Amino acid sequence: MSEQTKVAFSGTKEQEEKLIQVIEKHKGKDGALIPVLHEAQEIYGYLPIEVQEIISENLKISMSEIYGVVTFYTQFTTNPKGQYKIAVCLGTACYVKGSGIILDKIKEKLGIEVGECTPDGKYSIDATRCIGACGLAPVLTVNDDVYGRLTPDDVDGILEKYM
Ligand code: FES
Repeated sequence: MSEQTKVAFSGTKEQEEKLIQVIEKHKGKDGALIPVLHEAQEIYGYLPIEVQEIISENLKISMSEIYGVVTFYTQFTTNPKGQYKIAVCLGTACYVKGSGIILDKIKEKLGIEVGECTPDGKYSIDATRCIGACGLAPVLTVNDDVYGRLTPDDVDGILEKYM
């Protein structure tokens, strides 16, 4: 991960209280960690180190074990999502029509990698599988907006809409 993608943690007291309740609900049960991590990610949107520490302390599970689980399962993320979630389809139809080049251009413009978020919290980039819009390939989405039949030259105009 590049240095500039470190977004300051800004969890609220309410979020922490909710997390503690979740931990209390699962504490002492076999396999408590995975459901706690799922619910923690729903509360915060991601699993930063600060959240992992709260879980570690309250579930009495080591940070290394928690980190191992978080990094093993692809459904968990330690990076926040941006206000604008950009997702570029890398499914076959989109890929053969150049979505990889579009993705590279977005990464270069925003200075972040796939799975990362800009330091101001505004944009994050993900690569997705087929989203069922192959007729529009290559496709990307920004939150609920879908853009299709793209060329790399369209990238600037799309990003400008969300400035
Ligand atoms: S492969 Fe991209 S929408 Fe199907």
